[in-house]
Amino acid sequence: MAKRVLVSGGAGYIGSHVTVELINAGYEVVVADNMSNCDLTCFEGVKKITGKEDIPFEKMDCCDDAAVNALFSKYRIDAVIHFAAFKAVGESVAEPIKYYRNNLDSFLNILEAAKTHGGCNVLFSSSATVYGETDRLPVTEQSPRQPATSPYGNTKQICEDILRDVVKATASCDAMEPGTDRNGTVKGIALRYFNPIGAHPSALIGELPRGVPNNLVPFITQTAIGKRECLSIFGNDYPTPDGTCQRDYIDIVDLAKAHVAAVGRMLDGKMKESYEIFNVGTGRPVSVLELVNAFEKVNNLKLNYKFAPRRPGDVTAIWADPTLANRELGWKAGRSIEDTLAAAWAWEKHLAGK
Ligand code: UFG
Repeated sequence: MAKRVLVSGGAGYIGSHVTVELINAGYEVVVADNMSNCDLTCFEGVKKITGKEDIPFEKMDCCDDAAVNALFSKYRIDAVIHFAAFKAVGESVAEPIKYYRNNLDSFLNILEAAKTHGGCNVLFSSSATVYGETDRLPVTEQSPRQPATSPYGNTKQICEDILRDVVKATASCDAMEPGTDRNGTVKGIALRYFNPIGAHPSALIGELPRGVPNNLVPFITQTAIGKRECLSIFGNDYPTPDGTCQRDYIDIVDLAKAHVAAVGRMLDGKMKESYEIFNVGTGRPVSVLELVNAFEKVNNLKLNYKFAPRRPGDVTAIWADPTLANRELGWKAGRSIEDTLAAAWAWEKHLAGK
């Protein structure tokens, strides 16, 4: 029988790409989403790409503990991938209560249900933001976490710690739940994403930012299509080779495949510890200017951009040492930045009906 994976926040940007790859890998998937930051565009795209019309979809809020419990009663869930969270850094500074309430409550409800329904494997979507500013690059999973600079970043750190503690507390559960093959243990993996960008090569799913995008690539594609007048490159006086910030841009499909590998590791009993952390990045630093130049070149267009002051809160440079994920998950980022930027542009044109 195929294993079933619950994808909370599965109608969003990363969740929809992960749902596609899980289905392609033969998993049953249940998508749960409250649609607070997306519409059905990507979920419909997932159905088209996979040719699977009957993917179970539950419109629900993971902050509603009764709804989460009901979900675990309705389906036998073998693993959860938890994406359901708010993610705008600036908004989290302005509205910390909203962020702590939403991002922590939803994860606690998932973990509580995972535990009370006999145990489960839980994959948490964490972020490279936990490393903060560091000059010891690339960062490994052992690199120290820095105090978070935003409530959003803090929720990532806190959720990692909650998962670690819950895993530890349930590790000693060895009594089998009556009538099941489960014993109440929760196992966990946190994936620390670097900068996810791009879209599915079909151009049927991609990022759908609401309002003015905060992130670089949606701002670039919206400028190229004429929705925004000019891209501001925040800072060209950083101590980097060309003065602009460096990041590790990870293709969204590559990122999605890392989730499939991590879920497989949990379900196949391959974990070396009951709680594990993996960096999900390419290991390759790319500056803002290099990214803009690559976008122009691969898509054969000129982008209107200017240099602007530094954006508060930005770190100078960060990129991953992905060795652990490469070795333990048997996963490696494969797509070139050019292919990724071509896919991002194809998605923007798809949205514009071009
Ligand atoms: N940038 C610009 N102009 C823009 C947007 C971004 O120059 O209009 C630059 C930023 O200054 C930065 C780089 O592009 O140097 C990447 O910025 P993004 O906003 O795309 O990504 P971040 O590295 O800031 O964001 C990442 C994750 C977040 C996480 C954040 C923590 O995507 O989830 O780091 O700061 F919270």
